[in-house]
Parts: sequence; structure tokens; C-alpha cells
Amino acid sequence: MTIRSIIRGVGGFVPGDPVTNHDLAARGIDTSDEWIRERTGIGARHIAPPGMLTSDMAITASQIALLRAGMSADEIDLIILATTTPDLTFPATAVKVQAALGCTPGIPAFDIQAVCSGFVYALATADAYLKAGMAHRALVIGAETMSRILDWTDRSTCVLFGDGAGAVVLESWPEAAAGGGGILSSHLHADGTHVDRLRTDSGVSTNQKTGFLKMDGKEVYRHAVNKFAEMVEVELQNQNIKSDALDWLIPHQANLRIIESTTKKLNLTMEKVILTIEKHGNTSAASIPLALFEGVTDGRIQPGHLCLLEAMGGGFTWGSVLLRL
Ligand code: ACO
Repeated sequence: MTIRSIIRGVGGFVPGDPVTNHDLAARGIDTSDEWIRERTGIGARHIAPPGMLTSDMAITASQIALLRAGMSADEIDLIILATTTPDLTFPATAVKVQAALGCTPGIPAFDIQAVCSGFVYALATADAYLKAGMAHRALVIGAETMSRILDWTDRSTCVLFGDGAGAVVLESWPEAAAGGGGILSSHLHADGTHVDRLRTDSGVSTNQKTGFLKMDGKEVYRHAVNKFAEMVEVELQNQNIKSDALDWLIPHQANLRIIESTTKKLNLTMEKVILTIEKHGNTSAASIPLALFEGVTDGRIQPGHLCLLEAMGGGFTWGSVLLRL
């Protein structure tokens, strides 16, 4: 029997009040609202208060996703959590979420690390589990406290990122019952020759520290523009779909100029793009599920809509998922 992975519920959470670009400048960072908006499209971000962990945000986002799916935690039989900023080096943040939600002990729960591509990696992996019959209902989460790995004295990176979490509940349905809905295809990629372009400057096996985020912004920008357009074309060709058939492009929210460039190359209008970058900044693995949550919550994304999710992040990693809600 052919299986389709259907999205049953979406959740999201961002901590506290927005911290605007003006707030950052007022806190002594040598920057301006004008510079940040012009280069990135970011107007604000949310920063987790002391004591709030990645798992806390993941739990709240998951509870909303479960509520919207009309499911209880004990119906979930797989948890995959994408994060670059886990609560602890080990165990996986996913197991803390499993216990806190009251999911059945014994179900598989693990983290995926693919930086900003993490949610797309997690969604594609969960889809493969469901299609293989290894699980029936998966909780897929992207959650980050990027603020904890930022060097707040480095204005070229600290203004770009924010904290938050998003989650979806996936359920396996027989294709015949899915009515054309669900995950249609996904493509994942990595190229480790670019490892130095976007990374932390420390790590557990390197020097027993967590480190700070370092980025060669110009190179990341150049690759992101090329990879984003390439990914969309591959995904659409694979399904023999023209870009104008897309209802929504839901890209990783790293830089508005990168998103605009992809949209232009595809002859799409910006009206077809879900944007959260102005309010959230770059929340890494949380950015796509947060955008999905926003689009579904405000009613723009409707059942039956064709959505293309795409991301690129450190590694480099990149990937896309085409789905019909
Ligand atoms: N405020 C004011 N001025 C600044 C700031 C700031 N926050 N940051 C840098 N500047 C200054 C620089 O010092 C430099 O000044 P100088 O010319 O006097 O030396 C000037 O602005 C230009 O700096 P650049 O780094 O050349 O700026 P650029 O135009 O490349 O923009 C940016 C930087 C926005 C980071 C861009 O390179 C970018 O968006 N790159 C891609 C980032 C991205 O997409 N990341 C996604 C992946 S993230 C992930 O996977 C975790």
C-alpha cells in the first residue's frame, strides 16, 4: 500500500516580547535599524529569557500542534527534533520533549542536526519512516535558542538570529484516502567542503566548549541564492509541476534579499511567499515551521494548497519538501 504523510496539525512559539533593531542599538550594539532592514529585512527577533531552554519552546509548539491535530501525546509513535542548540550535549532534546508531553515510553525520539536546514531534514526523515511503515504518527519539531551561541560583540552576526520553535504532527494515510494531499517529494543535500563558511568556533570534541557562531556572510549569501533557485527547480521538475502551480513558497527566513532573488528567478510574486523574517529574524531550524504556523493560523494557507518548503544552512546543507496541505 502506498502511504502519504499528511500534516494534521501545526504549532509554533516565540518567547517574550520582540527585541527590535532599535532595542539592539540601545543596548550598545554598534548598528542601526536602517542597516539591518536594508541588508536583511529583519526588524525584530525574540530572545529566550534566562532559564528558558530549547525543549521548553519545543514542548509548547508541540502542544499546540497536537491540539490542532486533535490528538493526544500518547498517539505519537515517533519524535524527530531539529536543533543546533540542544539543551544538553546529550541526551537528545527530543527525549525531554517526549517525557514532558507524556508520549508513550519506548517510542523512538531523536535529534537531527542540519542547522537551518534541520526542519526540512527532519520532515523528510519522518516522511521516510511513515512511508516505510516504521511509524504512523510523527511529531516533527524545529527549535532553537540561537541567542545562546551568538557573540553579542560581533555585530555582523548577532543582529541576524532569534529564538523560537515550530512543530507539525504528521500522520500516515493510504494514498487513495489522502485526496492528493501530503508530502509529495523531498530532496536533501550537503557539501562539507564549505564547513568553515558557517560554523561555531568551538565544539565538544574540539575543545569541550560550545562556542560562538561564525559566518562568512558574503559566501553564504552567494551559495544561498544559487541553491535556493536550484532546489525549487529540481523539486518542481521532479513532480512535473510549473512554479505558477505553487500556492506558497515557505523558505528558510535568513535574508529577505535571498528570498526575493529566488522568487524573481522563479517568476513568482512575493504575495506567494510566507515571510516571518521581519518579526523573527533567522530562527534556524525553527524558521520554516514557524512560517507554516503563521500562514495556517492567519488563514492564508488553506487545505489543498501546494506548498514548497526550502532551506539552506551550515555545512553547507540544503533541502526542500513539496507538500499539499
Ligand atoms: N550594523 C551596521 N554595520 C554593520 C553590521 C551591523 N549589524 N554588520 C556589519 N556591518 C558593517 C561591516 O563592518 C562593514 O563595514 P565596513 O565596510 O566599514 O567594513 C559593512 O557593514 C558591510 O559589511 P558586509 O559584511 O560586507 O555586509 P554584507 O553586505 O555582506 O551583508 C549580511 C552582511 C547581511 C550578513 C549578508 O552577508 C548576508 O545576509 N549573508 C547571508 C546570511 C545568511 O543567509 N545566513 C543563512 C544561513 S544561517 C544558518 O544556517 C545558521
